[in-house]
Formats: sequence, structure tokens, C-alpha cells
Amino acid sequence: MRRILLVALTVLSLDGAAAQTTLPSKGSDIHLGVTSCGGSTCHGATQSVRGSQVLQNEYLIWQRQDKHAKAYSVLLEPRSQRIARNLGLPDAHTAKVCLDCHADNVSENLRGRQFQVSDGVGCEGCHGGGQRWLGAHVAGVASTEDLHKLGMYPTQNPVARAELCLSCHLGDETKFVTHRMMGAGHPRLAFELDTFTEIQPAHYVVDDDYRKRKTVASGVQTWAVGQAMAVSRTMAGLADASRRMVGAFPELTFYDCHSCHHPMSNLRWQRRESTGLGPGVIRFNDSNILMLRLLARRIAPEDGASLSGRLQALHAAMSEGKGDVGAVAREIKTVADRLVQRFARHAFGPEDMRALLASLVADGRDGHFADYGGAEQATMALASVVQALRRAGGLTDAQGNDLRLAIEQCYSATAKDETYDPAVFVRALDAVERALPRG
Ligand code: HEC
Ligand code: HEC
Ligand code: HEC
Ligand code: HEC
Repeated sequence: MRRILLVALTVLSLDGAAAQTTLPSKGSDIHLGVTSCGGSTCHGATQSVRGSQVLQNEYLIWQRQDKHAKAYSVLLEPRSQRIARNLGLPDAHTAKVCLDCHADNVSENLRGRQFQVSDGVGCEGCHGGGQRWLGAHVAGVASTEDLHKLGMYPTQNPVARAELCLSCHLGDETKFVTHRMMGAGHPRLAFELDTFTEIQPAHYVVDDDYRKRKTVASGVQTWAVGQAMAVSRTMAGLADASRRMVGAFPELTFYDCHSCHHPMSNLRWQRRESTGLGPGVIRFNDSNILMLRLLARRIAPEDGASLSGRLQALHAAMSEGKGDVGAVAREIKTVADRLVQRFARHAFGPEDMRALLASLVADGRDGHFADYGGAEQATMALASVVQALRRAGGLTDAQGNDLRLAIEQCYSATAKDETYDPAVFVRALDAVERALPRG
């Protein structure tokens, strides 16, 4: 599993605004190509430039350290060729189904002269096609807001960022890693917005100057918005019968992988209160809803309560055929969409963060993270919230250190999905509980 380094830090301000934007892949602006951004006097300097508002060596950081720069070349590797062969595709690097996530795969008429699909997920795959904004941007006269009006994507906004990253890391109505693709060899996808923001090699520095130009969301807010958006997206997928079903069978990526994929000698069924299910059925992967419910209980208690009931209804519909999956999914989506906006406006304070940490531990103890997916999300959540609490000055160095060590245990307990043991994870949560500051 991916992990963030828990480090020492400065205080960040909070962000509120919601986004009304078009994803870079869905806009109508021409994408000029990575080389249009990577000139040596622009973002292609060999080292960060002093006195400049931005680093200016973004291109090198991306090219050398960021996996997005390799996303296309990975399609040329034997493992991708195998996936393609298993799926009956001529090649992975020419297949739209692969390129849509592994490159900035805009249509031919939106590709500028220097555009190369082999650049992988390039600058404009996240920052938006440069056709209208590049001129004003290079002239240096436009404000961040003006640039957004010209089609630059507001990557600093947590709602907009969640939409952007999840479009590839979870999938959407146009692109999606199906169980057939996983059966052919595609790795399992797991995503948490704050963790992945932290582990993507940063090609920007959040300093005073940055804060003057942009509002900065705290890590906990980024986590919260990411969870609500992930639930909204998953529910949109479930509400759409063509994505939920593959012929007569359900699309299995919506389910907990390990409810099917584990050795039969490993008898490990236990009651999961949140599902209401008995043994011997496949379970919907409810990890994001478990996080959302916990967040809602704190920030919007009425929604927290309703999510519990609806989650059971969803499990009953998806595993036992009781009730209408689409109808329940649409209800949950409505709640999740409301919570996206609610979290984007909420100023998460140290009290919220402490309560969220306590609740992650309590839910784990109550057996809600008996499935690997839940434990994986809970671990990333703990790290994200502890990091945010530290940054907000809510922990002494000693407390921060104790918590870091306890969270290390959670990471170890979830390091291998196939040998995950919920009892070991609960012991790690006990360590987190002991390290939590009292009062
Ligand atoms: C919905 C978006 C999406 C689609 C469609 C998709 N992928 Fe991926 N793929 C990803 C993401 C995201 C990752 C990285 C997962 C991670 O590390 O968390 C990935 C990882 C991979 C990896 C492992 C890369 C590594 O560095 O370990 C391979 C190989 C791969 N994809 C091949 C393919 C092939 C071949 C296709 C087409 C059949 C395809 N992918 C379609 C999103 C997608
Ligand atoms: C996977 C998505 C992604 C890719 C690819 C990407 N960026 Fe970014 N970029 C971000 C995010 C997220 C931020 C931080 C939020 C923000 O400041 O908007 C950011 C911030 C920036 C900043 C803002 C710094 C500031 O102080 O305002 C610059 C400049 C930048 N990126 C340039 C580039 C360039 C040049 C490339 C290509 C070489 C690139 N980015 C590729 C996601 C991406
Ligand atoms: C156009 C699709 C696309 C978008 C948009 C996108 N990613 Fe990715 N991302 C990928 C693919 C594909 C990979 C896997 C590349 C590989 O391993 O070769 C990946 C890999 C990563 C990795 C490396 C994970 C690892 O295995 O170490 C991180 C971190 C990441 N993305 C974060 C983000 C964040 C944060 C955003 C939003 C700001 C984002 N991504 C937006 C497609 C995308
Ligand atoms: C309903 C049970 C079920 C669920 C849930 C499920 N799978 Fe599968 N999976 C299967 C079956 C059945 C096969 C086909 C096995 C075969 O061909 O021998 C398979 C095959 C695979 C394979 C290929 C194995 C091989 O032998 O090459 C992979 C990888 C895989 N699944 C990954 C996943 C991932 C990742 C998830 C969760 C996102 C998942 N599966 C969820 C039942 C399931």
C-alpha cells in the first residue's frame, strides 16, 4: 500500500470554494503538448529558480520522478502486452481503453503541433489544454482566477482535484478498470486523495507567496472531500445498469476483491455489523462509505445516521438481490454530493480531527474494517488526519512521534492485501488509541 511520510510542519489555512469546471480530458481547448510548458525559461529549468513565484523546474520533477510521465511507456512493457493479449487487443499503447488513463488522450483535433501522446499524463492532462490560457500565462499579467476562466484547471481546489484524480484513479462513465481487465492482469486500484497528493512528487511549494495567490485546503479537508467524491462516483457507476452488470453477471470490481480471492483453508468469516450480511456471499466494497459515514457523523450527523441504514440496504440489494440497487445507489449519491459541498465549506479544526481519529479507532474495534479495503482506507485516513493535526499545531512533538509509530503498525498490518488479518489490524488500532492525546 502507498504511504505518506509523517513529517514536521507549518500551519495551513483552509479553503472553502466549490468548483464548477470541465475536466481537462473533456474540455474543447487544444492541448499544446508538454514541450510547450517545458522550455528552459518556463517550467523546464534544471533547478528551482530563486525569486520566481514557482519552482520552474516542474518539467524535470515530473519527467524524472513522477509516475505520470511513465504512464504511457508502461503500456509498452511486457506486462501491458500480456494484458492486451488476454483482452484480445492488438496493442496496449494504441488501445483507447488504456490510453484514456495512461496518457492525455484528447481527440486528434485537440492536439497541437508539439503534442505527443507518448508523453503520458502530461501537464495539460491535469492543468487543462493551454490553447486559451497559455498566452496570458506567459505574459504574466493574468491572475489565477483569470487563468481559470481561460480553461486552466483549478487543481488547488479540493473538489476539482478530487474530480480530476478520481477520473483515472477510480474511473468514471467513460473509463473504468473492469474485472475483465484485472483478470487479464491489471493491478487493483486503491486511492485516497490526500495520501496520493502527498506522494505525487511535489512540483510546487506551498509558501507565503503561494497562499497569497491560492487558497490551500488542509489535508483532512482534502481527505474528506476525496471520500465523498469517491462515494458519489461509485454510486453513479452502480446506478448505471450498463456499468453495474456485465451481461447476466455483476461487474465484480464493485465488490471486495478478497471476498472471493482468498485461500479456502483460511476460514475467516466474521459478522460485519455495517453489512447485515451472513456468511457465504460476496460483499460490496464499502470502504469509502465507511469513511464517509464516520466523517458525516461528526460534521453532518443527520447524514451519518441515514448512511448507516442505506449502506445496509445497498448490501442487501447487491449481495442478496433484495431491493433495487440503482434506487439505493441514487439515494446514497445524493447524500454524498451534499457532503462534498458541506466538507468543502467546513473549516476542520483540531477538535474535529481528534474526534475523527477516535472514531476511526472505535469503528475498527467494532469490526468495521474486517475487510482489507476498509483497513487500507482507515490507515491512509489516520495518517492524513494525524498529519493535518500536527500541521494545525494540535500535537506536541512527542505525541506526534508516538502516533507516527502507532500508524506504522497500521501500515505493516495492511502491507499485504492477500495475507491481511483483521485481528492484527485491531491490535495496531489499540496502539493508536494509546498514543492519542487525552482530554
Ligand atoms: C480508469 C483508468 C485506467 C484504465 C482504463 C487503465 N489503467 Fe492501467 N492504471 C491506472 C492507474 C490509476 C494505475 C496506477 C495504480 C496505482 O499505482 O495506484 C494503473 C496501473 C497500471 C499498470 C501498473 C503500472 C505500474 O507502474 O506498476 C499497468 C501495467 C497498467 N496500468 C496497464 C494498463 C493497460 C494495459 C490498460 C488497458 C487495457 C490499462 N492499464 C487501463 C488506470 C487505468
Ligand atoms: C497528475 C496531475 C498533474 C500533472 C501531470 C502536472 N501537475 Fe502541476 N500541479 C498539480 C497539482 C495537484 C498542483 C498543486 C495545486 C495547484 O497549485 O494548483 C500543481 C501545481 C503546479 C504549479 C503551481 C505552482 C504555484 O506555485 O502556483 C505549476 C507551475 C505546475 N503545477 C506546473 C506543471 C507542469 C509544467 C507540469 C508538466 C511538466 C505539471 N504541472 C504536471 C497536478 C499536476
Ligand atoms: C489521465 C489520468 C490520470 C489523472 C488525471 C491522474 N492520474 Fe495519477 N496516475 C495515473 C496512472 C495511469 C498512473 C500509473 C502510472 C504508472 O505506474 O506508470 C498514476 C500514478 C499515480 C501515482 C503513483 C502511485 C504509485 O504507484 O506510486 C500517484 C501518487 C498519483 N497518480 C496521484 C495522482 C493525483 C494526486 C492526481 C490528481 C491531482 C492524479 N494522480 C491524476 C493516471 C492519472
Ligand atoms: C465474485 C467473486 C470475485 C470478486 C469479488 C473478484 N474476483 Fe477476481 N476473479 C474471480 C474469478 C471467478 C476469476 C477467474 C479465475 C480464473 O480464470 O481461473 C477472477 C480472476 C481474477 C484475476 C486473474 C487471476 C488469474 O488466475 O490470472 C485477478 C488478477 C483478479 N481476479 C483480481 C480481482 C480484483 C483486483 C478484484 C477486486 C477489485 C476481484 N478480482 C474481485 C472472482 C472474483
